[in-house]
Amino acid sequence: MEFRHLGRSGLMVSEIAYGNWITHGSQVEEEAAAKCVKAALDVGITTFDTADVYAGTRAEEVLGRALKGERREGLEIFTKVYWPTGPGPNDRGLSRKHIMESINGSLRRLQVDYVDLYQAHRYDHSTPLEETMQAFADVVRSGKALYIGVSEWSATEIRAGWELARDLNIQLVSSQPQYSALWRVIEAEVVPTSIELGIGQVVWSPIAQGVLTGKYEPGKQPPAGSRATDDKSGADFISRWLSDEVLGAVQRLKPLAEQAGLSMAQLAVAWVLQNSNVSAAIIGASRPEQVHDNAKASGVKLEDDLLKAIDDVLAPVIERDPALTVSPANRP
Ligand SMILES: NC(=O)c1ccc[n+]([C@@H]2O[C@H](COP(=O)([O-])OP(=O)(O)OC[C@H]3O[C@@H](n4cnc5c(N)ncnc54)[C@H](OP(=O)(O)O)[C@@H]3O)[C@@H](O)[C@H]2O)c1
Repeated sequence: MEFRHLGRSGLMVSEIAYGNWITHGSQVEEEAAAKCVKAALDVGITTFDTADVYAGTRAEEVLGRALKGERREGLEIFTKVYWPTGPGPNDRGLSRKHIMESINGSLRRLQVDYVDLYQAHRYDHSTPLEETMQAFADVVRSGKALYIGVSEWSATEIRAGWELARDLNIQLVSSQPQYSALWRVIEAEVVPTSIELGIGQVVWSPIAQGVLTGKYEPGKQPPAGSRATDDKSGADFISRWLSDEVLGAVQRLKPLAEQAGLSMAQLAVAWVLQNSNVSAAIIGASRPEQVHDNAKASGVKLEDDLLKAIDDVLAPVIERDPALTVSPANRP
């Protein structure tokens, strides 16, 4: 496993991180979740990403149990705050009250004294940004988080947050956007702004939730046990990718992966890692074999002619519109 700096900070992260959205506490049983975490540790992954909202807070508990006993100094644990974790109007968003409640809940569930990175899971248009950043600064100064990050913030929002963080003497070091060969909306604005400010991308769904493995074929039923058959939440989240047009284009990547001597998942993960503003690609997995497969993308260099061939094959289905980096107008 190779390591990269998280943005311009001194913190090193494994360039492939493991995340537990949809899987832990929901799609997969605890035993399978623990095996995936063990596989991640075995392949050298040290960076783990979760959120208070995943599986209604259960995902943090599962990850906490799976990592228990590991050397804390050898792990980078990331979590997030914003989406609802309870029924009340203050159980959501980026108010000072919810941030203070949520970090305490996350630390309790993860069974740790601090998280390495605390991320705003979206931009909260109902809270003054000054209030949010002041609360984050207090979380950092109390030692409950070491660094601050954001997720799915636009370039303008990132710059505003970064400037306040600088004035408060805390480090806003990362952005967590969706990024894959199919979803390139950060390239036009978020990435150039982040390079200027020293912010690294920790990207999610690098294989488009499994779609870029080619296992979903146009006109066919999804394979049993896949995310597209998970009626708890997975099927809804993956549905936007399951058009025949997208699935057909992805099938045409297979000879390219073969020629490069890579599995389709490795090709997809390696693709996001070619972008030097990416600090880590967060992979998900429902079984340990997937972790072993995908982690082999670390350190892989894709040649220019291969990158060009990927662009040609996917051209009709690639999303590039920067306006797609957007947070809800109102708190959920
Ligand atoms: N900040 C945000 O708003 C946000 C949003 C989403 C995700 N995230 C983060 O990003 C992480 C990763 O997201 P993701 O799970 O969508 O990532 P992903 O790596 O694109 O997709 C993972 C899923 O693809 C399937 N898969 C993985 N490897 C495979 C392989 N080698 N062969 C066949 N199928 C394979 C598995 O699902 P099945 O086996 O069930 O098909 C697995 O759960 C999350 O856990 C979370 O930490 C953040």
